[in-house]
Amino acid sequence: MIDHLGDARRRRLEAKLADFRDRQTEAALAHILEFNHTPASLKARMDRHVIGQEQGKKVLATAIAFHYRRLAAALKEARAAGVLDWETALKQTRTPKANILIIGPTGVGKTYSGEIVSQLVGVPFVVEDLTKFSETGYVGQNTQDILVDLLIAAGGDPLVAQMGIVYLDELDKIAAEVTTTRDVSGKGVQKGLLRLVEGVTNTIEMGKERLSLSTKHVLFIAGGVFETLGSIVKKRLARQKISGEWRELVSADDLVEFGMERQLVARFPVKVVFHGLTTGDLKNILTQSADSPLLAYINDLKAWDIDLSFTDEALTLVAERARQEGAGARGLVSVLHRILFEEMFRLPGTYTGPLVVDEAFVRERLA
Ligand SMILES: Nc1ncnc2c1ncn2[C@@H]1O[C@H](COP(=O)(O)OP(=O)(O)OP(=O)(O)O)[C@@H](O)[C@H]1O
Ligand SMILES: [Mg+2]
Repeated sequence: MIDHLGDARRRRLEAKLADFRDRQTEAALAHILEFNHTPASLKARMDRHVIGQEQGKKVLATAIAFHYRRLAAALKEARAAGVLDWETALKQTRTPKANILIIGPTGVGKTYSGEIVSQLVGVPFVVEDLTKFSETGYVGQNTQDILVDLLIAAGGDPLVAQMGIVYLDELDKIAAEVTTTRDVSGKGVQKGLLRLVEGVTNTIEMGKERLSLSTKHVLFIAGGVFETLGSIVKKRLARQKISGEWRELVSADDLVEFGMERQLVARFPVKVVFHGLTTGDLKNILTQSADSPLLAYINDLKAWDIDLSFTDEALTLVAERARQEGAGARGLVSVLHRILFEEMFRLPGTYTGPLVVDEAFVRERLA
């Protein structure tokens, strides 16, 4: 069929297709092009989900608002100047991307903050576990995985995929281990990461198509618990007779002493330390966060016409128990489950109406 088409007609069809692809890309890019959050407005939106971590949210919101504003400006400028190649356009922006390092205990909102903020911006977000990298000791292969993950998260749009956010989990686990005989983890992986974070291009085969994707404009957020970092910082502060909250005074040297490669630390210019969650924070997560696990239970039970509610004292007990368990906000889910499990099994189909959980109820179930 195609062979018999006249040249003019073929050109017309090609133009139509190209126009269609442009519009598709345009739609996919809309979130970035229309990005109009200020750091403060982005933080205010984060506040609805992420409880506490005030400094952390401020730092994240600022870094991310500037990153996407910059990308949007570069894309728009390129449009205006008639440059169709966005790669060329973005090359002209001078400001380096500011990858973010989040340090803090388990379950306090490190990954969650990244996820929420990328949802708010409307860009693809993927979480990659760095311990997976150290198993093979080879970053190259994983780079392709990451790019494919981004592509999927971007609904298949390569342009948008390359402007997403990658959360590198457990960065502290690839700190140089002095005791390893073979250096499968540690330094080798860190070296490979340098390139990934800076920007590497990799080819991905999708059926007949070969896509060349790069991490140059991908924003990297790395997170880790960095268990002993606090004492490293405090010791240095004591030595240098500096007083103040260690969380706000973490230096590159401290991270190097922990076992990170200096060059890798330098690739994460924005550093922020998240706090352990207090009983008050945990209670606020239950009552205020848009993603409160309590709200989830309430909704689940509503589907069976059971109206779940907790008294204030009961909520305090739940929060207190979760804090004692030391798993951060993750503890809330398991505590709630232990409290509610019996009723969740027994009540559906046999009872409708209110289910009030008070202090005595909680104490009995958690005994
Ligand atoms: N500050 C917070 N406000 C509201 N919810 C939170 C907060 N911190 C954690 N959560 C809840 O707990 C879950 C686990 O938190 P998250 O995945 O961010 O842990 P993390 O800090 O990345 O810990 P890890 O080091 O174990 O990966 C989140 O999905 C969220 O539902
Ligand atoms: Mg995490």
